[in-house]
Amino acid sequence: MRYSRIIGTGSYLPETVLTNAELEQRVDTTDQWIRERTGIRERRVAAPDQTTCDLAEMAARRAMEAAGVDPSEIDLLILGTTTPDLVFPSTACLLQTRLGLGECGAFDLNAACSGFIYGLSVADQFIRAGTAEKVLVIGAETLTRMLDWNDRSTCVLFGDGAGAVVLAADEKPGIMSTHIHANGHYSDLLGTSVGVSRGFKAEERGGVRVKMKGNEVFKVAVNTLGRIVDETLAANNLEKHDLDWLIPHQANLRIIKATARKLDMSMDQVIVTVDQHGNTSAASVPLALDEAVRSGRVKRGEKLLLEAFGGGFTWGAALVRY
Ligand code: COA
Repeated sequence: MRYSRIIGTGSYLPETVLTNAELEQRVDTTDQWIRERTGIRERRVAAPDQTTCDLAEMAARRAMEAAGVDPSEIDLLILGTTTPDLVFPSTACLLQTRLGLGECGAFDLNAACSGFIYGLSVADQFIRAGTAEKVLVIGAETLTRMLDWNDRSTCVLFGDGAGAVVLAADEKPGIMSTHIHANGHYSDLLGTSVGVSRGFKAEERGGVRVKMKGNEVFKVAVNTLGRIVDETLAANNLEKHDLDWLIPHQANLRIIKATARKLDMSMDQVIVTVDQHGNTSAASVPLALDEAVRSGRVKRGEKLLLEAFGGGFTWGAALVRY
């Protein structure tokens, strides 16, 4: 059998830290409210001249270095992002040149916060099918560029960052299974009201701003993530206690805890970065994975459950033997 395996991880966070105390100065909120309702203490904000491509480049270089692969070996580049540098060319194409890759396929994938899990799933299919040997999968976002800094219900939640993995073909898994889903009926609960084809009169409509009915998103997220972890375990004939680590999307500590409870996992088995990163959308899972690997917590051979949920709604999971 042919599988894909993660052979290197990398991540990058912009230098500027934005604390809850600083947000108290901008909107009617408190550090206590943000910590109690979300678990977030601080988040990173990209410098004015830093773009998604810059963040992705750093994360990708670190992942390739960790994997010990030369850029010329990468035969597919997938970049999960909702905040591309330009409408087109894709950020993946800009990044391909920056990294000095060959003329491999390169594309952006927009599945909001599930972008990395979706990318992992696509990459896994390419490798299993024998179409690719080594794939670079990245999640990178500058979501703070789309925030309404006067809207306390959204501006406290998000941050910027990037995470990346290199996948390679192997005889053993690796990625044991991936599962992706979407339901467009919920498109009004989380998204933006401005786009290219609907007319880009950004100034008239208050710019490209994230809009969210947080409370309703919360309920669907908890339910949906509960279902996707069941689906993933069942597909692999595994029980909850077979898992070593949960590496969840980092949107809200209460959502993360609900999924951990559902899996009977102690919080010691859950990688949490939301306190320091906020919600970095497609970057959140690979950022958390890289931190877990580099800190020595996640070790080779362990079973990891990666999951994400985001605008669309989209959601997905991957069961990985690291
Ligand atoms: N500071 C202080 N008060 C705030 C606030 C802030 N930053 N943001 C909202 N509030 C207020 C609301 O105005 C509301 O006040 P009211 O009761 O007087 O009307 C109150 O807090 C409760 O608001 P609510 O939205 O019900 O809070 P909540 O417990 O659901 O927490 C979120 C809000 C956004 C933190 C939470 O719903 C959430 O995390 N949702 C999911 C987000 C998510 O996962 N999004 C991305 C998916 S990828």
